[in-house]
Amino acid sequence: MCPPRAFESLFLALLLLGGGIPIQVGCFSFDFPKFSDQNASDLLMLSENSRIDVEAIQITPNVRIDSYLENKSGRAFYKKQFRLWSKSKGVTATFNTTFLLNISPATPNTPVGEGMAFILAADSTLPDGSDGQWLGIETAASNGSSGVVAVEFDTRKSYPDDLDDNHVGLDVNSINSIKQVSLGGYGVNLSSGNDASVRVVYDGKNITVAVLVMSNGTGEYTPLISLPLVLSDYLPEMVFVGFSASTSNYTELNCVRAWEFEGEDIGEDVNLLWVWITVPVVVIVLISGIFFYLYWERKNRERPEDAYQGMEDQIRGSSMAPRMFKLRELRKATGNFNPKNKLGKGGFGTVYKGLLADKEVAVKRVSKDSRQGKQEFIAEVTTIGSLRHKNLVKLIGWCYEKRELLIVYEYMPHGSLDKFVFGDDKLGSEEQPLSWEKRHIIIHGVAQALDYLHNGCEKRVLHRDIKASNIMLDSDFSARLGDFGLARTIQQSDVTHHSTKEIAGTPGYMAPETFLVGRATVETDIYAFGVLVLEVICGRKPANTGEHNDYNNGIVYWLWELRRKDRILDAVDSRLKGEFDEDEMVGMLVLGLACCHPNPHQRPSMRTVLQILTGEAPPPLLPTERPAFVWPAMPPSFKEDTDTAFIKSQSTPFTDIAGR
Ligand SMILES: *[C@@H]1O[C@H](CO)[C@@H](O)[C@H](O)[C@H]1NC(C)=O
Ligand SMILES: *[C@@H]1O[C@H](CO)[C@@H](O)[C@H](O)[C@H]1NC(C)=O
Ligand SMILES: *[C@@H]1O[C@H](CO)[C@@H](O)[C@H](O)[C@H]1NC(C)=O
Ligand SMILES: *[C@@H]1O[C@H](CO)[C@@H](O)[C@H](O)[C@H]1NC(C)=O
Ligand SMILES: *[C@@H]1O[C@H](CO)[C@@H](O)[C@H](O)[C@H]1NC(C)=O
Ligand SMILES: *[C@@H]1O[C@H](CO)[C@@H](O)[C@H](O)[C@H]1NC(C)=O
Ligand SMILES: *[C@@H]1O[C@H](CO)[C@@H](O)[C@H](O)[C@H]1NC(C)=O
Ligand SMILES: *[C@@H]1O[C@H](CO)[C@@H](O)[C@H](O)[C@H]1NC(C)=O
Repeated sequence: MCPPRAFESLFLALLLLGGGIPIQVGCFSFDFPKFSDQNASDLLMLSENSRIDVEAIQITPNVRIDSYLENKSGRAFYKKQFRLWSKSKGVTATFNTTFLLNISPATPNTPVGEGMAFILAADSTLPDGSDGQWLGIETAASNGSSGVVAVEFDTRKSYPDDLDDNHVGLDVNSINSIKQVSLGGYGVNLSSGNDASVRVVYDGKNITVAVLVMSNGTGEYTPLISLPLVLSDYLPEMVFVGFSASTSNYTELNCVRAWEFEGEDIGEDVNLLWVWITVPVVVIVLISGIFFYLYWERKNRERPEDAYQGMEDQIRGSSMAPRMFKLRELRKATGNFNPKNKLGKGGFGTVYKGLLADKEVAVKRVSKDSRQGKQEFIAEVTTIGSLRHKNLVKLIGWCYEKRELLIVYEYMPHGSLDKFVFGDDKLGSEEQPLSWEKRHIIIHGVAQALDYLHNGCEKRVLHRDIKASNIMLDSDFSARLGDFGLARTIQQSDVTHHSTKEIAGTPGYMAPETFLVGRATVETDIYAFGVLVLEVICGRKPANTGEHNDYNNGIVYWLWELRRKDRILDAVDSRLKGEFDEDEMVGMLVLGLACCHPNPHQRPSMRTVLQILTGEAPPPLLPTERPAFVWPAMPPSFKEDTDTAFIKSQSTPFTDIAGR
């Protein structure tokens, strides 16, 4: 294609007082594999006697349409002028063109005349008297001074200087060619009615004319004329490119069937006066455009809802502000939220897999109609963003732009725990069931994460939505607690905690007292953890209506029932195939049940749970019958073993994030 050219840039012309920068400019090119009337009116300029017929340009009259073919001439040009050279820039354009010409006798076996030409002309009009020997190129009057360079295909020897009746010539401002080549020796008969393909190449210094000579089916272009020629010496800067032809007493049909032209676009001339007027105007328009854009951006960013104002400041103000991403970056990372990259869908939105600088991430896109609004979003970003624990999903960053709320987490290759523990077909049981050893490690990991949230970090955090689908598994199948979407809901509930709407969580994981207190406490998190332990061991969803009648009240009742019958090991997931230590398993089931004690004050703290898991503390004592749920629960002061921290937490129920 066209090579780049130096172009006087408007701005540099101003700044460097005439200097230039190279920029790529386009080509002046076109391709007509065939011609149509549409082409003719849109792109071509046809003179009198010229028209489109049978998908070709008929430069001189066509026997199918016209009665008189004698003494005619015609011209056909591409409508747009081609800039051949530029005086102000001192450059000359190169070009090459290939066309398919076809000359045939108007009636068979009659002598033909006169010929046609490819021409570069200053003037597009067809000169009067250019018929006959003048080939539409010149007239008696213009010959010698016309401003036309032509490659002629002459089928008649009409004056002594003509070589023969089958030749190619190069004409420069005169009908008398500066070079002629007879085609006889090349096996080409111009007037035979066969197509002849011609290529003309101009490299700025030399012009070359070649015809395609076909032999046994294949062919190659044979150069006929190759001469040094500086076109700018003979032609103006802007020229018309096209064809001309003529007939005389002798007639023929002069057709062009296809035409391709590729020329270098050396750009417009630079008029300095114009530059001096234009540049300031452009600069003013640009600057006001930028101002307007910034104003609009700002307005757009802050207008949507007052509630969203200052979100960035709030998040940035938090102790460990995670990275803020541009919406553009996250769009790119997720393939513009391509459904193919969807990892899952939760109550608050959709999670997509993304690729940020070759690192896999999970991007949660909070759906616009979700309950998770700005406060929840800030809570999630600031809460989880300030936490660091090996069993918590790591937050990488966030984005709020164009009303889109996005949170970026590290990517968990194995997805969530529920896929692995529930034998339920609906949940993708194609995953291999996890071994008891792995399940034990997962339970331990979740316990560590919860202990960290409750007791280990700067501010006490209640997760409030512990369940199998919120436990992620990293590449080693270690548990990572994720989805802090509810954490903030509880914070807000501080203000209006009597509203039942504030009861957040997932049925089956909610402690019985939740419906009475209507808010989250450390103990409700522990209850949900107990349910999680039981479901991981049993491979059952917490509230599975169906199959078992005795299961209808949920996993907790079901296990109490089995414990009463002293058959608690019957509950263990059959897919474990008995591959576990029975004592350890019973201990674990009892621990799970203890966490689900109806009386919140009787549930062990996460600290205690961890000690039991590591064997530092004995398994909890648990009655064989399910204790009745009594409300208000027996106050902690009646409890035998008094863990002061534990008691404190009872007396002042925590909202999710409360200073300790
Ligand atoms: C034809 O001309 C164009 C523009 O000058 C150039 O890029 C291209 O290489 C030329 N092609 C041939 C076959 O000469
Ligand atoms: C000329 O018209 C033909 C048929 O309508 C079309 O295929 C061709 O693309 C047109 N050529 C150009 C350069 O527009
Ligand atoms: C064509 O032009 C020639 C020479 O000028 C003239 O003798 C002849 O009569 C013309 N033929 C027609 C059909 O006009
Ligand atoms: C055309 O002009 C050239 C150059 O001026 C001259 O040599 C030639 O004889 C002219 N040809 C005719 C046919 O008048
Ligand atoms: C070229 O072809 C035409 C038409 O078929 C024929 O009249 C003429 O004699 C041929 N010329 C040569 C040189 O073969
Ligand atoms: C065409 O003919 C030439 C010699 O005349 C021969 O060398 C060449 O292989 C032939 N090509 C094909 C495609 O037949
Ligand atoms: C092009 O012209 C220059 C002189 O202007 C000459 O030296 C060179 O050989 C020519 N090249 C071709 C391919 O004709
Ligand atoms: C054209 O034909 C006419 C007669 O039909 C004749 O008088 C005239 O001389 C011819 N002209 C040329 C240029 O051959």
